Amino acid sequence: MDLPRSIAGDRFTLRPHRMADIDDVLSYADDAEWSRFLTAPSPYGRQDAVDFLELVRALPWAEHPNWALIVEGRVSGNVNLRIADEGRSAEIGYGLARRHWGRGLATAAAGLVVDTAFATLPDLAAIQARADVANHASRRVLEKLGMRLETIRHRDYRLGDELRNNAIYGLAREAWTCHTA
Ligand SMILES: CC(C)(COP(=O)(O)OP(=O)(O)OC[C@H]1O[C@@H](n2cnc3c(N)ncnc32)[C@H](O)[C@@H]1OP(=O)(O)O)[C@@H](O)C(=O)NCCC(=O)NCCS
Repeated sequence: MDLPRSIAGDRFTLRPHRMADIDDVLSYADDAEWSRFLTAPSPYGRQDAVDFLELVRALPWAEHPNWALIVEGRVSGNVNLRIADEGRSAEIGYGLARRHWGRGLATAAAGLVVDTAFATLPDLAAIQARADVANHASRRVLEKLGMRLETIRHRDYRLGDELRNNAIYGLAREAWTCHTA
C-alpha cells in the first residue's frame, strides 16, 4: 500500500507539493543558515525553487514520497522518505523554515511520518537517517525520535569544497514506539 498523500498533525499538515508553492519554498530555502548542512544551492533563487518542486513532484510516490510541511497556512519545510528494498527499508529526511525552529515541529512532523510508515508498510524493517556530525539540531531530532546512532561515515558527502562526516541513525521496527498514539 502507498503512503497517504495527506497527513494531519496537531500543529501542521503534510501534503504533496504544488507548483504554486514556489514563493513559500523560496522564503524558507533562501537562507544560508537553513542550508548550512544541505547540498541545496546557496544563495537559493526562484529557479532553484522551481527545480525542487518539479523534481519532487516527478518522483514516484511509492518510493520517494515528499510532503510539504504546512505550518500556519504556509509551506514551511518538507519531510521525505526514500523507500528501498521493496519496502523493507527507508531513509527519512526533513527541513523546516528557520522562523519555526525550536518548537518541536520537526520532531513532531518526522515522528508522524515514521509512525505512518511503520503502520502502512508491513514489511518495513527499519528507518535510517543521516545528519552531518555537526548538525546538532538534526541529530537531536533523531534522538528524540528514538533513533540509535549506528555509525559515523567519514568523508560521506561533499559540502562546498569539503568532504564531511555523517552520523548514521537507525530505528528498527522492534524498537519503534508509536509517537502519535
Ligand atoms: C534540524 C531542524 C529540522 C530542526 O527543526 P526544529 O523544529 O527546530 O527541531 P525540534 O524543535 O523538533 O528539535 C530540535 C532539538 O535540537 C536542539 N538544538 C537546536 N540547536 C542545537 C544546537 N546547536 N546544539 C544542540 N542542540 C540543539 C533543540 O534544543 C531541540 O532539542 P530539545 O527539544 O531537547 O530542546 C531544523 O533546524 C532545520 O530545518 N535545519 C535546516 C535543514 C536541516 O539541517 N535538515 C536536516 C538535514 S539532516
